[in-house]
Parts: sequence; C-alpha cells; structure tokens
Amino acid sequence: MSTPDDARPTGDRHLPVLMQRCVDLLAPALAEPGSVLVDCTLGMGGHTEAVLEQAPTARVVGIDRDTQALRLAGERLARFGDRFTPVHAVYDEIGDVVADLGLDGVQGVLMDLGVSSLQLDEADRGFAYAQDAPLDMRMDQTRGITAADVLNTYDERALTRVLREYGEERFAQRVARAVVRRREERPWERTGELADLVRASIPAAARRTGGNPSKRTFQALRIEVNGELEVLERAVPAAIEALAVGGRIVVESYQSLEDRIVKRAIARGTTSSAPAGLPVEPETHKPYLEALTRGAEEADEAELARNPRSASVRLRAARRLRPTPDHLRVTAARRMNRPTKEDRR
Ligand SMILES: C[S@@+](CC[C@H](N)C(=O)[O-])C[C@H]1O[C@@H](n2cnc3c(N)ncnc32)[C@H](O)[C@@H]1O
Repeated sequence: MSTPDDARPTGDRHLPVLMQRCVDLLAPALAEPGSVLVDCTLGMGGHTEAVLEQAPTARVVGIDRDTQALRLAGERLARFGDRFTPVHAVYDEIGDVVADLGLDGVQGVLMDLGVSSLQLDEADRGFAYAQDAPLDMRMDQTRGITAADVLNTYDERALTRVLREYGEERFAQRVARAVVRRREERPWERTGELADLVRASIPAAARRTGGNPSKRTFQALRIEVNGELEVLERAVPAAIEALAVGGRIVVESYQSLEDRIVKRAIARGTTSSAPAGLPVEPETHKPYLEALTRGAEEADEAELARNPRSASVRLRAARRLRPTPDHLRVTAARRMNRPTKEDRR
C-alpha cells in the first residue's frame, strides 16, 4: 500500500483502466472542432489527458465530486488551457452542467466508476481497510454523512440490508449485530476497529476463502455513504440524454451492481419499444442507441499485467442514433434560456 504523497506527479498515482480503448471508442465523435466530452469521473485526469492529446480540437468538461481530485487534475491539465473545464458536481447533475455551459448536447460522455487510487491512497479518507483511519469514506468531503454516522445510527436491520445488498456479504446480519453491540460501549470512529470486528464476526472457515473479509463491508459502506447506486441509476439515463445525435457514451464499472444498472440503461435504448405485431415500426419506437461493444468488454492479459485494478472492469459503450421526446424537451427548455444553476443560487 502506498503512502499519501501529494508530491508524486499526478499521472504516476493512477494508471487509467483501458485508457486507449476508451479513447478509441470516443474519438470518432470528437473529430469535429469544438466537440465536447464530459468526463463524469475526472479523478486524476488520466483519461481526459489522453483525449485532449489525441482529439486535438475537442474540449473536455471534467466533473468530480471530490475537490482534491479536481485540484490535482486541474494542475495536471493546465497546459491545455481553456480546452479543459473542471466542474465540482455529482455526475447525475450532468444535464445542468451541460446546460450551464450553454450547450445543447455533447459528443461524448465517459464514466469510470468507483473510487480513485488517490482516494484509496490517502489514508485519512478511510476507504482502505488495510490502513487505520477515521471512518469517513465520503468522496465529497464538503458534505454528507460519513461511514461513522452510518455505523453509529443505522439499526441492525438497515445495516444488514446495506451489507447484504451493496457488499454481497453472506454474514451481513452477524456483522451488523456485532456493530450495534459494540457501539453500545463506545461510538465507531476508526477503520482499524471495524476491520478487526468484521474479521472476528466471520466464521474461521469462511475467512480462509474470498480474500480479505473486510473488503465487502468496506465496499458496502462506501456505496451507502456516497449513494453510489441511486446516483448511477439517475446518471446513466441523464448522460444518454445529454448526448447529441452521433454522440458516444463509454462506461467502465467495477462490480456487478453498477454494471447491471449500465447494462439496463443501454438495453432500453438499443431495443425497439414498438408493441409486437405492428406491421411498420413507428419512428418514435425505434432504438435510439446503437451498442458499440458486444456485451461487456473485459481487460485482456496485457492490460491486467499493466494495471491490476482492471481485473474487475466491465466496459460498455453506445452511440446515440436519434433524439427521443425527452431529449427534445430538454433541448427546447435549454434554448428558452431557462435559469442556470448559478442563477438559482
Ligand atoms: C476511478 S476514478 C476516475 C479516474 C480517472 N478516469 C483517471 O483517469 O484518473 C473515479 C472518480 O470519480 C469520482 N466520482 C465517483 N462517483 C462520482 C459521482 N457520483 N459524481 C462525481 N464524481 C464521482 C471519484 O471522486 C473519483 O475521483
């Protein structure tokens, strides 16, 4: 595990997963001068940097909810001047972000889900079970509840649900009961205490398989603290709506719960919605997306050797074929100069 180190060049801290594949999928939509990519998960800006280098007339709007990531990526990408615009937002706000920039639609959207190596490396953020730290786990440290709040306030049933659904933890109830019992003595504060309790709650036989037993509990808490799945449920359709016709979306997921949400949203767009048996398929029922990947792509041997984080990646991509009624409504509202986020503040 590496140590927190703001002095290391940003690019050395994180190798973007399937970077060239992402650029190759997005580039055909970014060839026109002035075309725009929204990188919804800027992180340390690795994917964005590659796009700015390889699509020399495109611009990138980089969203992240983590202010530290925005600062570091901003420094790394400063050499691109006004071709790069950082935005502090949650990615389900993509519609507002695009509208506030005065754009009708964008040519590309990239989502590289989950936490960054930066977040995992910074011990005091509390994401890593191998380092003792305050139980925080917020990607946006300017707001929201922490992992300690979840552990100190949720009842046993709610905790069991979180651990089972988001961590796929077989022993969710045992861990949840132990969490509640322990907090009657003193409130939860540190990740090290949680890792010890999880280890002690899981039967010895089960501890010998399936990797570090804390991994599932820490994943579940992180998803709950950041509302990751609810946000993603809203964000993928919003990102598809933000695409101009011909625009492309690429999403990289790292666990099955995320990938299922992405898969469903793309399937809705690639499937005809016409009732069976119609002699002619009405235009409005035709698919509005074309899949650019066959199912989900995984990392090959070379990528795995380069980048261990790619082991669990599932990449899906699609291209926008036509507008939908929602799409037109949103575009029309934007044209009518509806108030921007800044105006509403
Ligand atoms: C895996 S990293 C992205 C790494 C990036 N592609 C690179 O090359 O450096 C994911 C980033 O997305 C951010 N993020 C995760 N969920 C988010 C959300 N709902 N809204 C905005 N940013 C989010 C995280 O803070 C993190 O910095």
